[in-house]
Parts: sequence; C-alpha cells; structure tokens
Amino acid sequence: MLFDILTIFPEFFVSPLNVSILRRGREKGAFDVRTWDIRDFAQDKHKTTDDRPYGGGEGMVMKVEPIYHCLKHVTPLGPSPFVVLLSPRGRLLDQSLCEELAQKKRLILICGRYEGVDERVSEHLVDLELSIGDYVLSGGEPAALVVMDAVMRLLPGVLGCAESPENESFSTGILEYPQYTRPREFLGWKVPEVLLSGDHKKIAKWRRKEALRTTLIRRPDLLEKIELSEQDMNLLDE
Ligand code: ADE
Repeated sequence: MLFDILTIFPEFFVSPLNVSILRRGREKGAFDVRTWDIRDFAQDKHKTTDDRPYGGGEGMVMKVEPIYHCLKHVTPLGPSPFVVLLSPRGRLLDQSLCEELAQKKRLILICGRYEGVDERVSEHLVDLELSIGDYVLSGGEPAALVVMDAVMRLLPGVLGCAESPENESFSTGILEYPQYTRPREFLGWKVPEVLLSGDHKKIAKWRRKEALRTTLIRRPDLLEKIELSEQDMNLLDE
C-alpha cells in the first residue's frame, strides 16, 4: 500500500515514520509513505497556503489552489488513489472503516488546519472527509498518523502471527479482556488465580466473561451493535 500525505508540516512525520511498527512495516515493504509539502504548490511568490474567510470571522482558511495543484502533481505518481481529507467535520473513524481503507492500493491523506479548509476541496477533490474523534486537533497531521497506524497494521505481513489483529477489541466488537504478566504478586496485588491454573477452558471462559463485563461497564454502546450468544448472556448474568 502507498500513503501520500499532503501537509504544510512534512517535518511532523519524520520521527514517527522511523520508529516501531511504522518503520518495520516500511522496511518489510508492506507499505510506503511519501510526504508532500502543500506550500511547494502555492501559486504566489510568498507561497501562501491560507487566507481570511469570506464572510468574515476568526482564523485562516486553507486555500483550494495549492491543494489542487499538489494533488494534480501527486495523483499520477502511482495507482489510482482514494483521497481522504482529515477534518473534525468528517465521518468518524472506527475499526470497520480502517478495514475498508486497508483494502485500498493507495491512500492520499490531506492534512487540513483546524480553522478549516476551503469547502471546495471536500466538494470536488476528495472521496472521504474523515475525523478521528469528537475533539479538535491543531491540524490533520496527528490524525493522518493515527489513520496510517490503524490501517497499516491490518496489512498482510506487518504484524507477526502472534500479534494478529483478529482477537483484538473492535475486531471482535467488544473490549479486550484484562492481561497480566509476571510477577504473580506485586505490592500485594495478585494476578487472578484462574490465569495460573493451566485450565485453558476455564481461562477462555473467564476471559470472555471479563471482556463482556468490561464492555458492559465502559462501552455499553458496543454491545448494542453485536449479537450476543446465549452463553454470553449467561456469563453476564453470573
Ligand atoms: N483535524 C482537527 N481535528 C481533527 C480530528 N478530530 N480528526 C481529523 N482531523 C482533524
């Protein structure tokens, strides 16, 4: 998969792309990332990428022309892209949308600034306006990193088998069960006995119950979206 990031802050991506799984995934050839400076496509000698809003008001608005020219330059440089504008006004990202995006050969991620982007970008140049949550970031750059991280880890060959995403929260539709590792006891805080029992059936049942219980307490909205088995209902009643 190919990610092209259109931004006025390409520096933002240098370190994150060179650590951890983003680096590993790139080195394995599962995906590649290119960053493009929208400023390089500004049409005037001052390289202006934003301007005051028509109709008045606070803040600046990102101009349509530099984004248009940047896209026009970048689009032919690879397979046909799916173009995403990061913005707090967009469709909310969730795991199923990440899975859809992971099917694309190529994503172009346009990072807007928080005051706004000329609406003609959204109307004419993008396939999807996307928000990573109901809060306002100072720009689309951290959101682009979130999208890349969540999408690329679903690509074949990025995670090892042991890290497979299939059993994770949101892939299963509910939150994950709690995890523990050594020591068995720390400051008197004990690991649940059942996990030390070696009884795999009992452990699986306990994990399912804890996952359901945690989801019921923390995110009851998730339980409304899935169908619980009779066994699950019994576990919740226990
Ligand atoms: N830009 C500013 N806030 C954002 C958000 N919540 N999601 C995506 N892009 C943004």
